[in-house]
Amino acid sequence: MKSKVLVAPSLLAANPLSFGEEIRSAESLGVDFHHVDVMDGHFVPNLSYGLPLVKALKQSSKIPLDVHIMVSNPDQVALDYVAAGADILVFPIESVVHSHRLIHAIQAAGSKAGVAINPGTSLSLLEPLLPYVDLVNIMSVNPGFGGQSFIPAAISRIKVLRSMLDSLGRTNEVLIEVDGGINAETAPAVVAAGAQVLVAGTFFYGARDRAAALKTLRGVV
Ligand code: DX5
Ligand code: ZN
Repeated sequence: MKSKVLVAPSLLAANPLSFGEEIRSAESLGVDFHHVDVMDGHFVPNLSYGLPLVKALKQSSKIPLDVHIMVSNPDQVALDYVAAGADILVFPIESVVHSHRLIHAIQAAGSKAGVAINPGTSLSLLEPLLPYVDLVNIMSVNPGFGGQSFIPAAISRIKVLRSMLDSLGRTNEVLIEVDGGINAETAPAVVAAGAQVLVAGTFFYGARDRAAALKTLRGVV
């Protein structure tokens, strides 16, 4: 059976003056998670938002928060984001130091643990973590900004990750998320390659018809 494509709109492309209304509108259309991009102005050049916003979102959200921390010190701050309300906490493989410890700590604190990997980082770094993680975020842009163009090499990286998970027997336990430049053209290709969670900022929040954008992402039109 074809499994449902999960859609996680990134708040980065929503109207910051109306985040409450924006998440309610997304929920009413049936999105699966809210993707919350935390940027520290150091791991990535941009600065976005932090704990207070995650806490506030948690209070009004009816669906899981997928919190993607793009920070230089995930070992130090990840658990604060779990306490603030992350249901899935995704940290960068490039800046984590004690990755096994962090994955277990995130899970022990009650969240799913995800690891994100930049387009220029070898997938082999994921290998020791795949037996433990709940989600892998394949970055299809260099992180830091919304609205960038999809990097086509992400397609083959998803396929390779899929086969790595197959050989571990974890295909049904680990979600493959793809993040950056997802739109009507790139979504079908990444889903065909094996992605199950589509992060979409500009394509969803920037759409004139968000319901239609969601259907397009799910591949039902
Ligand atoms: C990029 C972020 C993405 C971004 C996606 O650094 O991790 O989640 O918001 O935005 P779009 O869909 O506009 O590429
Ligand atoms: Zn993200």
